[in-house]
Amino acid sequence: MKGVILAGGTGSRLHPLTRITNKHLLPVYDRPMVTYAVEALVGAGIDEVMLVTGGTHAGEFFRLLGNGQEHGIARLFYAYQDQAGGIAEAFGLAERFVGRDKVCVLLADNVFERSLRTTVENFEKQESGARIVLTHVGEDEHLRHLGVARMNGERVEEILEKPETPPSNYAVTGIYFYDEQVWDVLPTLKPSGRGELEITDVNNWYVSRGLMEADVVEGFWGDAGESIDAYYEVNDFVRRNGVNK
Ligand code: G1P
Repeated sequence: MKGVILAGGTGSRLHPLTRITNKHLLPVYDRPMVTYAVEALVGAGIDEVMLVTGGTHAGEFFRLLGNGQEHGIARLFYAYQDQAGGIAEAFGLAERFVGRDKVCVLLADNVFERSLRTTVENFEKQESGARIVLTHVGEDEHLRHLGVARMNGERVEEILEKPETPPSNYAVTGIYFYDEQVWDVLPTLKPSGRGELEITDVNNWYVSRGLMEADVVEGFWGDAGESIDAYYEVNDFVRRNGVNK
């Protein structure tokens, strides 16, 4: 399985910090944010990785990660996103790299306390389709900033992106698994209200065809790019407890 780390975007929710650097290069405790995503994939057994980024600080990722080997990556590729057009647009740049393999896409601002190995193994065993990872979020105000799953028992029936009225307490985290059908879905996407190609639309394509499976994450999960408070919450957690365990 190939891994794709998405580290682009404008990071507008962390302005003005992200006017002078890329969000994923900001520190989380004692090292740059993106290194946690690298560690998460490598720890889960994925060592062929493409990093997608853009903007004026892209060169810093070379300086930090180099050819990836110091970080446990066997082969590291880079792609450059000309403009910030959303998660699904950034992911599209990895098509040739992924080819007909299965792929795990990880947003580089997502931090997980526990290893992702079990989920990766679950998708390896899954014959086809897609897989997402859900997390329990208590507060509606927090859910309004995330993708939220409408559930029927353990099945995901629909994902709503940043819903005014969250249909459950299960938020969709920023790790996604796809089979090769995803390359037929991406060209059909239309920009959302925020002018981006949404990963939630990709996921709903699989959901509506009964091809989506889901795991529920154990332990802490945080999106360090969600807001300045979320950024500090992730920092505090990592400093106190460590992650990717
Ligand atoms: C993205 C997804 C959202 C998901 C979140 C997790 O949101 O669109 O569904 O819950 O990542 O980090 P964004 O960070 O682009 O607002």
